[in-house]
Amino acid sequence: MSELRIAVVGAGLMGADHVIRIESRIVGAHVSAIVEPDEGRAKTALATAPNATWYPNIEAAIAANAMDAVLIATPGQFHEPVLLPAIAAGLPILCEKPLTPDAASSFKIVEAEVAGGTQLIQVGFMRRFDAGYVQLRELIASGKQGELLGLHCAHRNPSVPDTYHNDMLIFDSVVHEIDVVRFLTDSPIKSIQVRHMKRNKLSPEKLNEPILVLLETENDVLATVEMNVSVQFGYQVKTEAVFQKGIAEIGRTAGMTTWADAQIATEEHVSFKTRFAAAYDSQIQRWVNATKAGKIDGPSAWDGYLAAAAVDTGVRALREGGQLTVEYAAKPAFYN
Ligand SMILES: NC(=O)c1ccc[n+]([C@@H]2O[C@H](COP(=O)([O-])OP(=O)(O)OC[C@H]3O[C@@H](n4cnc5c(N)ncnc54)[C@H](O)[C@@H]3O)[C@@H](O)[C@H]2O)c1
Repeated sequence: MSELRIAVVGAGLMGADHVIRIESRIVGAHVSAIVEPDEGRAKTALATAPNATWYPNIEAAIAANAMDAVLIATPGQFHEPVLLPAIAAGLPILCEKPLTPDAASSFKIVEAEVAGGTQLIQVGFMRRFDAGYVQLRELIASGKQGELLGLHCAHRNPSVPDTYHNDMLIFDSVVHEIDVVRFLTDSPIKSIQVRHMKRNKLSPEKLNEPILVLLETENDVLATVEMNVSVQFGYQVKTEAVFQKGIAEIGRTAGMTTWADAQIATEEHVSFKTRFAAAYDSQIQRWVNATKAGKIDGPSAWDGYLAAAAVDTGVRALREGGQLTVEYAAKPAFYN
């Protein structure tokens, strides 16, 4: 296949960034369509994608045969209405995380993919492509520092947009840790508990955070996750791993350090766009390469469903308290 023609669906914060990425850094693909109901956002994105045409919805883009593959970057609750027509059209899909916000809708997507008979969907859990997480996974698997006993994760945003509501702490944010803890430990999440730290009065009124989430895996690793979306100072995603014979840490900022005015200062990220830039690039390049070979190369719709099932439990734990057990449907043989 020559260049892969990609339709980017949703040209907001993440979608617009992916358009620039595909146009400037990804080899063997270009953006052929921007699917976005908001004309202003569509025009801004089109200015960075000279070969793209604007469509107000996915159905119009499919009818015009405008793409070979679809990158979905609409908000999580609007993934399903884009996924279903794209699956029906047999198009390869990279769907931003979460696959959908809850287990029932994610299972519906799994069933649609299975019914189509071809694995079309890769989910945008890009931390699996981040060099630090990959290195830590290798260290855990190697056993060099003995058994992994626990993980301390911190996920901190400076602030969040007005559209961010309380459940999104789990289904939009902690979903990253839900996936990556399973990726690191090679073990599903068994139980979830949520506790509240003292509320940050700088948080939007509708949010009760920061929260501390305890994720327990089937193989008895306990992960603590500080989820904090109003830290003001910058964007941080860090993990410390506790082994029998040592400790490992990933995600410490590697920005420039300056020594001046009797202070040492290191630049911190302010956005996921820079913290995970290399991971997004690698995720999309590998997806493009795999798509051309008729495959996926990353987390599947089934991984998306497993995360969504844990998210359901996490949202209940957030609302009701307690340590709750996660229930999973049986894995379709299709994903073996
Ligand atoms: N992987 C990451 O680190 C990361 C970071 C940020 C966001 N995200 C994910 O990216 C997705 C988008 O988040 P965002 O922050 O860019 O949201 P956003 O609100 O900034 O942008 C979403 C865009 O989608 C458009 N849209 C809504 N429904 C649509 C539809 N049916 N068809 C086409 N366009 C539609 C909206 O008009 C908007 O322009 C979410 O799934 C989010 O979880 C991932």
